Amino acid sequence: MIPVCHLDDLPAGESVRIDTAPPIAVFNADGEIYAIDDTCTHQDASLADGWLEGCLVECPLHAASFDLRTGMPTCLPARRAVRTHSVTVENGMIYVHHAAEEGNAA
Ligand code: FES
Repeated sequence: MIPVCHLDDLPAGESVRIDTAPPIAVFNADGEIYAIDDTCTHQDASLADGWLEGCLVECPLHAASFDLRTGMPTCLPARRAVRTHSVTVENGMIYVHHAAEEGNAA
């Protein structure tokens, strides 16, 4: 379980990148917290730097869009999903459960 930040430090519409290997992007999508692999599956762009619209994040480099709930791309040029990671909030603190540690490696 990886500590991310306090819930108050990640307001709705914001994201943060955590420097795991590979890095993970954590988003507050209208109050729901999601975590996905930070690196776009098209090329080497940070999705934490992308634009959040509802449950979708748009890659800042070529505008592929990913569904934070599933990791699936919703438009080209990305064709492969990013990995999703489960999230818990305990005592106001956000924690990510790395998919690889849970046996969900893609
Ligand atoms: S790097 Fe993300 S769409 Fe190209």
